[in-house]
Amino acid sequence: MSKILNIAVAGLGTVGAGLLKLLAAETTVIQARTGATIRVVGINARDRHRDRGVDLSAYRWFDDPLAMARDESVDVVVELIGGADGIAYQIVETALQHGKHVVTANKALLARHGNQLAALAESKGLTIAYEAAVAGGIPAIKTLREGLAANEITEVYGILNGTCNYILTEMRQTGRAFDDVLADAQALGYAETDPSTDIDGIDAAHKLALLASVAFCHRLDFDGVRIKGIRDVAALDIAYAEELGYRIKLLGIARRLPDGGIEQRVEPCLVPRPAALAAVDGVFNAVVLKGSFVDSVMMVGRGAGAGPTASAVAADLIDLARDIRPPIFGVPVDRLSAAPGAATDSMPGAWYLRLMVLDKPGVLAEVAATLRDHQISMETVMQRARNPGEAVPLIITTHHASAAAMTAALAKITKIASVVERPSSMPITSF
Ligand code: HSE
Repeated sequence: MSKILNIAVAGLGTVGAGLLKLLAAETTVIQARTGATIRVVGINARDRHRDRGVDLSAYRWFDDPLAMARDESVDVVVELIGGADGIAYQIVETALQHGKHVVTANKALLARHGNQLAALAESKGLTIAYEAAVAGGIPAIKTLREGLAANEITEVYGILNGTCNYILTEMRQTGRAFDDVLADAQALGYAETDPSTDIDGIDAAHKLALLASVAFCHRLDFDGVRIKGIRDVAALDIAYAEELGYRIKLLGIARRLPDGGIEQRVEPCLVPRPAALAAVDGVFNAVVLKGSFVDSVMMVGRGAGAGPTASAVAADLIDLARDIRPPIFGVPVDRLSAAPGAATDSMPGAWYLRLMVLDKPGVLAEVAATLRDHQISMETVMQRARNPGEAVPLIITTHHASAAAMTAALAKITKIASVVERPSSMPITSF
């Protein structure tokens, strides 16, 4: 008789409903590939009667998700509710305490509590699978943890938030301002009513923390991620970046520094236009993995949405049906190294600066002298507008400088009387 994997699904939003549809549509494919049947033995959501475009009548409904997480019929609890704390946390903890594996798409939960929950899972001989938590349909975790397991990973980076990528793409293609494009994205349902988790870089940082832990075998350290979102990216910056041969992308970057530390940061960066990442537009995500022997692997795909995310959740369920259970973060939790903490500096690189300065003699000399005092060499200087006595944009790109040197220089530049706004600065990547 073929094996049966009994699963319970908590949360029937876009992804939960998508998973039920996928499991119904691909039963034959899954059986053929695994020799097993994935059977839904329980479902739960806040509202039983909402129309989700899927018939729920064949499934056993639980009003209480914790009772479902404890239920004897269940082998695996699939948590698709979201949120770092609250009921999602309780469901996962209850499931593990009652001997059930967990599959989740919840990056916030794992970024915050992953060390502790993984230790609990391992102490019970269970797993937490979370492919859907990072870059939706892109198999980033499996590729890193299984496919590249023989490599020392040197760098992981990518476009980890589709909402931000959509907004930046629209701004570039239409020349419109951030607030305007955000309002449209909200109306179209691409951005949440409260968009801060996406546009302030927090969602990308959750995903980066998970990738970094698997890549560098350290305890998850979300608090060690330096985060800057896209609120301050102006249409002007996008236009000047384009003129200089770059595209602005919100990137998550984790890498080993020369001093052995790990840098984890999320911020808008200028990416050279010929680079493959620069061409990843709209809601698409991209993940680049660099390993000692494989060199560079890049994956592009949809980072959200019912189909892609359900595909990743189902892949984790298929692993469980096949009895494939790799260590949650690549090595057992007690062999992970200590959390790296926030890096005090970053890998030196080139920078883009936009200063709003009064259009009068001597201002450029003052700015240049400040950069010189911090050993920062300029590559290009551009002032297009002419507006005597009024503010005009002054665009500068630099040669390599550390983040610490640039921060110190900008603190001084901000104090120059003719610099009338807080300067905008972004790293220029070499990839
Ligand atoms: N809100 C995310 C995004 C998807 O815009 O990419 C889920 O993390």
